[in-house]
Amino acid sequence: MKVLVVGGAGYIGSHMVKMLSKAGHDVSTLDNLSNGYKDAVKYGEFIEGDIADTTLLNRLFSENRFDGVMHFASYIQVGESVEKPSMYYRNNVSNTQVLLDAMIEHNIKHFIFSSTAATFGEPQYTPIDEKHPQKPINPYGHSKLMVEQILADFDYAYGLKSVSLRYFNAAGADPQGELGERHIPETHLLPLVLQAASGRRDSIMIFGTDYDTPDGTCVRDYIHINDLCSAHLLGLEHLLAGGESRAYNMGNGQGYSIKEVIDVAKKVTGADFAVKLGERREGDPARLVADASLLQKELGWKPEYAELEIIVRHAWEWEEKYSEWGESRKS
Ligand code: UFG
Repeated sequence: MKVLVVGGAGYIGSHMVKMLSKAGHDVSTLDNLSNGYKDAVKYGEFIEGDIADTTLLNRLFSENRFDGVMHFASYIQVGESVEKPSMYYRNNVSNTQVLLDAMIEHNIKHFIFSSTAATFGEPQYTPIDEKHPQKPINPYGHSKLMVEQILADFDYAYGLKSVSLRYFNAAGADPQGELGERHIPETHLLPLVLQAASGRRDSIMIFGTDYDTPDGTCVRDYIHINDLCSAHLLGLEHLLAGGESRAYNMGNGQGYSIKEVIDVAKKVTGADFAVKLGERREGDPARLVADASLLQKELGWKPEYAELEIIVRHAWEWEEKYSEWGESRKS
């Protein structure tokens, strides 16, 4: 397959590029480097540019016969989306439409989309399956749900086939230690915990200890980055085999509390870092756990690294390496 990975210099995109390349596919990355790193693109061709650049897209799609496009070039911070909704709707919705329009113009009809558990909003039940109502509670979740809607309409009108994958908590790193998470600023729990373990930060703060969960801290479904990427590969193969458009929830189906994540991190790293107890962070549901049985049943997806300890170990191997380079190393 010849695949364009949009946002291939970011955390998830860079792991996807590696997986596609190792599976023998011809892969190109398009990334504007707003949040990604050129040196994270270790395989295939790299093109610096924006999905809003129609001229660039037209040239790219005229010169290359892509079998499909995978889209990872979205803004992802819930809090920022509440403060700057325009930025989120512009990039995550309007610019995505520019990309989709260019694909249709050039008759590229297979699209894999990074969606999110945030499209469901406050859970009405868990584990969350695909029948759960989608009622986002922030602009980030709305922006992703809008694209899911656009994709349904574009399938009906233009025959664009897509697979949307609604991630729960993406975590971990490349098992070979070549790639990992490098968000600046970092807001996700596991990398922050591991930065506390490596000494890059002096402590980790738990946001809320009075939730209605067994230990009072929020429960999340952590999924290894490689398992997440393997679902994208299966999604594209499904579409190329003539499969219909689909949207799947993706997680391990097992929830871990923040305290459990910290305990596992202390065990894996051998470091006893400071843990502070803080106030709740706005907009955090108590429990988010995926029912991924549809993805397993229809695409045959099977997570390889389902255990939290393995996810933490891979993320730690990356953190140990990365903390030595220093955060200043950009592109
Ligand atoms: N947390 C802390 N301390 C920190 C950072 C996070 O206690 O320093 C807590 C959060 O409050 C939350 C849990 O750890 O309870 C996980 O937080 P993350 O920010 O790592 O992940 P979220 O569950 O908030 O976010 C994930 C995805 C988003 C998506 C969201 C859906 O990363 O893209 O789920 O609600 F929008």
